[in-house]
Amino acid sequence: MKDRIHKLFQEHFGGTGTIYTSAGRINLIGEHTDYNGGFVFPGAIDKGMMAMIRLNGTDRVRVWAADMNDGAEFGFDESDAPAAQWARYVFGVCMEIIRSRGPLLRGFDAVFAGDVPLGAGMSSSAALESTFAYALNDMLGLGIESMELARIGQRTEHNYCGVKCGIMDQFASIFGRSGSLIRLDCRSMEFRYYPFHPEGYRLVLLDSAVKHELASSAYNRRRQSCENVVAAVKAAGHPWVEFLRDVRPQMLEEVRDKVSAEDFMRAEYVIDEIQRVLDVCDALEKDDYETVGEKMYATHEGMSRLYEVSCPELDFLNSLARECGVTGSRVMGGGFGGCTINLVKDGLYDEFIAKAVREYAARFGHEPKVYPVVISDGARKLE
Ligand code: GLA
Repeated sequence: MKDRIHKLFQEHFGGTGTIYTSAGRINLIGEHTDYNGGFVFPGAIDKGMMAMIRLNGTDRVRVWAADMNDGAEFGFDESDAPAAQWARYVFGVCMEIIRSRGPLLRGFDAVFAGDVPLGAGMSSSAALESTFAYALNDMLGLGIESMELARIGQRTEHNYCGVKCGIMDQFASIFGRSGSLIRLDCRSMEFRYYPFHPEGYRLVLLDSAVKHELASSAYNRRRQSCENVVAAVKAAGHPWVEFLRDVRPQMLEEVRDKVSAEDFMRAEYVIDEIQRVLDVCDALEKDDYETVGEKMYATHEGMSRLYEVSCPELDFLNSLARECGVTGSRVMGGGFGGCTINLVKDGLYDEFIAKAVREYAARFGHEPKVYPVVISDGARKLE
């Protein structure tokens, strides 16, 4: 990828620049909990985005997207926002840096490419945002702290891409560390690295290769449901409640008749899921992967039946894992397509993958993609 970027940079802008990279992510457990002030448990992976960048001495940005075979040019002004979605990520990061730090940005030329599959729930967009946020901060010596870099990526999604996402993806993409998962408390923003080397098990993603067109509006509606329930609980005599994180099951019961059945279901899922992350942390302390796996299946159930962000393809992959005796399996990320994440015993691995590929293809007419998980570093400059 490096060579390709180098060659394209040469072609489009001449000469060479500095290479930065950032990662996609997995999440062991804790889905749709981040924007509810709960816990998540992600890690960066060995697939991500890479960019070659060089300041160009002007106040304009020229970017070439190698995988899209498309270019864009813009200045730092809202009226100059590019139309292509991929370019809006880069533009958004620039504008959010300016919003956060003042007009310190300078024009630059860049070529980027990636190997994190788009729309597979592995956060290709966060990897792109983090690459540029990290790179510009580094090149211009802006002194922006890492958590703020993640926030810049998140606000890019909110303000330029129409997705009211939480902080998990950008956090993992910036803070990822080889060999470790990270438990993040999305209310206090405290986090802890957990070395993750499950002896005798492997993590593998099965990509359904399904993309849901309306995923962003469906995602925003889920978030709205959570906020509706928080408002109802507050009004029912718990004014201190800020997030679903603060809502005990009993308090949710109190508002059963005051919220829609759908919003109630969504909140039920989130409250259970926040607890599941904590249970998984306890289980990991004891190397108890059977419990980790059970919780993953429970998450899938919840995401499929209560939060309703699964789809037939992902449910199929999940059932197949269960039939095969896989330790844990669930839909990963926002849902509406993308991957399942599977915790599989070494001895079962080959058999499971072969069966999943065969039976999925027989049922849906195309094979799922298989990505063994390698937990890797997050955003950085490549020497
Ligand atoms: C997407 C969002 C994240 C998070 C997950 C679900 O990846 O970007 O903030 O909400 O969905 O856990």
